Amino acid sequence: MISSAPAKVILFGEHAVVYGEPAIAVAINLRTTVMFERDVDYSVNGLPLIDKYHRYIKKAIDLIWDGEPLKITTASAVPSASGMGSSASITIAVVAGLLGMKNEAEEEKIAKTGFEVEYQTQGRASPIDTSTVTHGKGILVSNKKMDNFLWDVAKGETRWFIHHIEVPRLKLVVGFSGIKGHTPEMVEKVRRFYMWNSFARDVIKEIGKITMEVIKPLEEEDYVKIGEYMNKNNKLLTILGVSHPMLKKMIDVSLKHSYGAKITGAGGGGCMIALTDEQDEVVKEIEEVGGKAYKVEIAEQGYTIDTQI
Ligand code: PMV
Repeated sequence: MISSAPAKVILFGEHAVVYGEPAIAVAINLRTTVMFERDVDYSVNGLPLIDKYHRYIKKAIDLIWDGEPLKITTASAVPSASGMGSSASITIAVVAGLLGMKNEAEEEKIAKTGFEVEYQTQGRASPIDTSTVTHGKGILVSNKKMDNFLWDVAKGETRWFIHHIEVPRLKLVVGFSGIKGHTPEMVEKVRRFYMWNSFARDVIKEIGKITMEVIKPLEEEDYVKIGEYMNKNNKLLTILGVSHPMLKKMIDVSLKHSYGAKITGAGGGGCMIALTDEQDEVVKEIEEVGGKAYKVEIAEQGYTIDTQI
């Protein structure tokens, strides 16, 4: 059995989504592939399966698998701790494969089980990554049911509604700062600002407004408008304090050849994205200032499962 899942980037609404505002994420064509073979002991890439090194795989097996031990081999094009959803990508690839071997692979079940794996492993704040890499294309997460509803995810008091959203074949460049992003720390930093400052609460609301407003330009493939909204969203994220000098540098140079550019994900390091028709030029600019650049496109395909063993 071979299964796979893409990576993701958040286009609009990161951080605001923690406070019930909507967010839009897209799957991108960097994938994680996992091969499963039956064996006498569990192993991952030739090493014994241990909680410390294979947290997500171990948790997925604990939650799903009651069959014979498995020899698991993984390959991933997704850089870790970059904000491109590397943990969701491996989690969904593994969950899809395990459920596939039990003939229980179905999109909603994969997404919900994957969220549970991530939640129990890292106490993650939202199901945006796992839903996006399961479904592929574009996802809108909000706190109420809207058009194109797919499924909802509940945890404690919070309930997220996951929707399909039409996105054009955006050409993006992802710039990795090389500095690992620490999502829980950045979420906590914004939370403190949000609790004590009504201005921060207005900023979060404004991000939510932008996310709703950009749905139409996305449907109409209006790249100029989408770019303008990316720049606006980036200013607001910067006000929230989640930028980093390296992210700012990469965003500034990308804008020479882009419709728009912004921090993506938790910030404080991690990645930025630029929307552009000139991917090669943007890659060059980002690498000249010391970033690592990836030319990416929207992945139409979410999880995949091949050949039953
Ligand atoms: O950095 P990432 O891709 O893990 O994204 C974090 C997004 C936040 O909105 C900051 C947190 C969340 O869980 O939604």
